[in-house]
Amino acid sequence: MGEFLPGGEGSLGSRMMLQQGNVMRSSRGCSVHLETFGCQMNVLDSQLVRGQLQALGYRFVDDWKTADVVLYNTCSVREHAENKVYSRLGELALHKRERPEVIVGVIGCMAERDGLDMARRFPQVDVLCGPGELDKIPLLIDNVLKTQLADRGGMGGVRHALQANTHRRSQTLAAAEDRLEMLDLSRSFSPEEFRGSAYVRITRGCNKFCSFCVVPYTRGAEVHRPPDSIVEECKRLVDAGVVEITLLGQTVNHYQYDHGAAVTVGGVAQPQVGGVVGLRTPRANRRVTTFARLLARVHEEVPGVQRLRFVTSYPRDFGDDVLEVMAEHPRVCRYLHLPVQSGSDRVLKLMNRGYSVGEYEGLLSRARVMLPDVQVASDVICGFPTETEEDHRATCELLRRARFKNCFIFKYSSRPGTAAERLADDVPEEVKRLRNHDLLKVQSQVSAEVHREFVGKTARVFVESISEKSARESPAAGGAVTLGWDPGSPAPGSPGRTRGALPMASGKAPGNPETTRTQLVGRTDGDLIVVFDGDPRLVGTIVEVQIERSMPLTLFGRLVHEPVSA
Ligand code: SAH
Ligand code: F3S
Repeated sequence: MGEFLPGGEGSLGSRMMLQQGNVMRSSRGCSVHLETFGCQMNVLDSQLVRGQLQALGYRFVDDWKTADVVLYNTCSVREHAENKVYSRLGELALHKRERPEVIVGVIGCMAERDGLDMARRFPQVDVLCGPGELDKIPLLIDNVLKTQLADRGGMGGVRHALQANTHRRSQTLAAAEDRLEMLDLSRSFSPEEFRGSAYVRITRGCNKFCSFCVVPYTRGAEVHRPPDSIVEECKRLVDAGVVEITLLGQTVNHYQYDHGAAVTVGGVAQPQVGGVVGLRTPRANRRVTTFARLLARVHEEVPGVQRLRFVTSYPRDFGDDVLEVMAEHPRVCRYLHLPVQSGSDRVLKLMNRGYSVGEYEGLLSRARVMLPDVQVASDVICGFPTETEEDHRATCELLRRARFKNCFIFKYSSRPGTAAERLADDVPEEVKRLRNHDLLKVQSQVSAEVHREFVGKTARVFVESISEKSARESPAAGGAVTLGWDPGSPAPGSPGRTRGALPMASGKAPGNPETTRTQLVGRTDGDLIVVFDGDPRLVGTIVEVQIERSMPLTLFGRLVHEPVSA
């Protein structure tokens, strides 16, 4: 568990309640700017942090220059993501010369990975909080506020809550999980939080230890949430107007909750630790909820979910049971995000992925036989240590054969503490760049073909937002969106989109639908992006669109029906 530097808070637990009153007094009216970097998991974490702080009286603002508290929810997956945060911290160092009382917090994976080194290198940082300690943020901020009051702007040292390397030990893990579960359970269900779409966490952490990846170190061991809590959360989201739910985990298909081993506190089942310290293989007589069963349960018990999606799937042990549930449950989206990482068996082995190219393609064929309309997206890393031209060509060929609707292609970035860090990062940057370019070119051709097949068809589309183009040209259009949304967050399903988001709803009442047509953006059941003109009030609903033309990553069409749902 984390410790607290100067200020000597000591153990936290029971103190939280005692301090709640003080937290409220000093925080009321304080303005916070929260910027999110990285994956969907971070988007959800930011929503939870925001909900906690709002409940305590903090106000959220878009302009960081006007904020009393600036928080960055960070990502460590690649060096590039970290560099963006370092450059923001540089801006803040200058800003703090003018306004030394501004509180700067780095939360999420970078805080956990860099630990106190970050505080030493960046004295402008007041608060550090790892992803496993997010429930402590209000107290950490409050602590800085109080020291400042006593000390008129003199900084009392960084406040931090980090798990360091204790988060794979069973007792500390169990205690941390109980608190984190409370954070998920206490999320806000206020309809303004959602634009018809919400993420629901099913698993925290990861136990796969792919050799290039920092996530198992920053997010800790794999822990599965109780199925009843997940179903309940989905029901409450639907009651709050949500029509699309995305179940989140690093490897969702490895979800497994063993009811025989479940621990109950106050009548409520507790989250369950996966592989490292818990039971991975249940005994025959035990009742286990697998991912397939969980998906079916949410579909059956929450009929108001119009679209049920999940990310990310792991190519190893992806059972036919999940494909069967997808085939039998029409509201489960025909979409798999199934990162392959490389088209070379030799490289896959060095990456510790646990499957071969043949096995991956076997899964693709099974999925396409059982779900003829399924779309698959993937991730690839180019320039992994020792990757040869031959390995690279094998990846290009795999992309041609696999026919992904899109594929995120990353240049390998050596991450401190990972197994691959011990291999020399021996593919020169220029070669990585050329390989990245080759792969993008191949994928772009494939994506263009996949998208072209939709021209002339009608697609069911969940409307996510007003296009950036429309929002720029007519910011007032944002005012017509009745389902508000966090402008600091990526659009649902668009990993990495963090800046340049649309303006927040300004409260302007929508006019006559005939006169407020705007360019809208949505996604099909197979996750293809669709752009079309429509009433901004359609954001957060499902509509039918006649597809008229395509580009490699976008379909363009015409609205044929008013909302299918809602
Ligand atoms: N749980 C997900 C991935 C999380 S990280 C999964 O199993 O796929 C998201 C993506 O970032 C990965 O799929 C990988 O393609 C990429 N990535 C992770 N670590 C990386 C590194 N060190 N360098 C480059 N890309 C990396
Ligand atoms: Fe990372 Fe592999 Fe887990 S990519 S998040 S260690 S599945």
